[in-house]
Amino acid sequence: MALELGLNATRLETRRFPDGEKYLRVLDEVKGEDVVVIQSIHHAPDDLLVEYLLLVDTLKDLGAKKVIGFIPYFAYARQDERFHPGEALSFKTVCKLLESVGTDEVYTIDTHQHRVLKSSDVLSIPSHNLTAMPLLADYISKSGVLKKPLVIGPDMEAERWAKIAAERLGTDYDIFEKKRLADEDVELRPRKASAKDRDVLIVDDIISTGGTIVEALKILFSQGAKRIDVACTHPILASGALSKIYEAGAQTVVGTDTVPSPISYVSVAPLITEQVRKAGLA
Ligand code: R5P
Repeated sequence: MALELGLNATRLETRRFPDGEKYLRVLDEVKGEDVVVIQSIHHAPDDLLVEYLLLVDTLKDLGAKKVIGFIPYFAYARQDERFHPGEALSFKTVCKLLESVGTDEVYTIDTHQHRVLKSSDVLSIPSHNLTAMPLLADYISKSGVLKKPLVIGPDMEAERWAKIAAERLGTDYDIFEKKRLADEDVELRPRKASAKDRDVLIVDDIISTGGTIVEALKILFSQGAKRIDVACTHPILASGALSKIYEAGAQTVVGTDTVPSPISYVSVAPLITEQVRKAGLA
């Protein structure tokens, strides 16, 4: 991305101390500079979050003028409510930490915003939630395998992504109603549209355990869908999720590289470079 933008990529050294703590050193001069930090906080979220906090605090301490954080996958966003008494409001806590180290502005991609509808409800710095859905829809469209697919968002929150993908593909969409019963267990209920004799594209922000997608596949196949493909922004793919989804009959599953995975075929780099240019940083 730095090459593409004609910017310098600042070198960092990171390693672990013998006791497991993280060591971080910024190897280039950053005094007076605007610095773009790109850090996805995925599979080892605590580790990567601490690395982000150490980095931004150090950059500011070394005299960086402004730090703009790009956090393609923003872990902890799903714990945005106290579902049981005494639970941590993790989303709020992480937002506080980002601000406290001196992040001046933050960009995320398809951050889970179920109950907290706008990042500005939890962040006082400028924040922007970008979407990778047009990139995913373009990938599906270029592959040319789905004929005017019905786009399905597996829950209410996915409506915004289903709408974007359907518009991009020039087709129709619907959503399901979802009730989460446990971490790996969900119940889905269809609404109006029927998948009978249709190609279908399921779109969602995250595939974690795969439970949501597997339930959606069951309903759509029982309605008579011809072929079902799946696209998500963040392929977390915990607990053998990908095998479960293929075993349930999905034809192809595609995700972006906000989270590195075997199905991260779509890069969000163009989304990030576009924003860096728009912000006048390159
Ligand atoms: C939840 O509302 C999200 O949009 C995803 O549907 C959810 O995180 C997927 O999780 P899983 O793959 O574990 O069902």
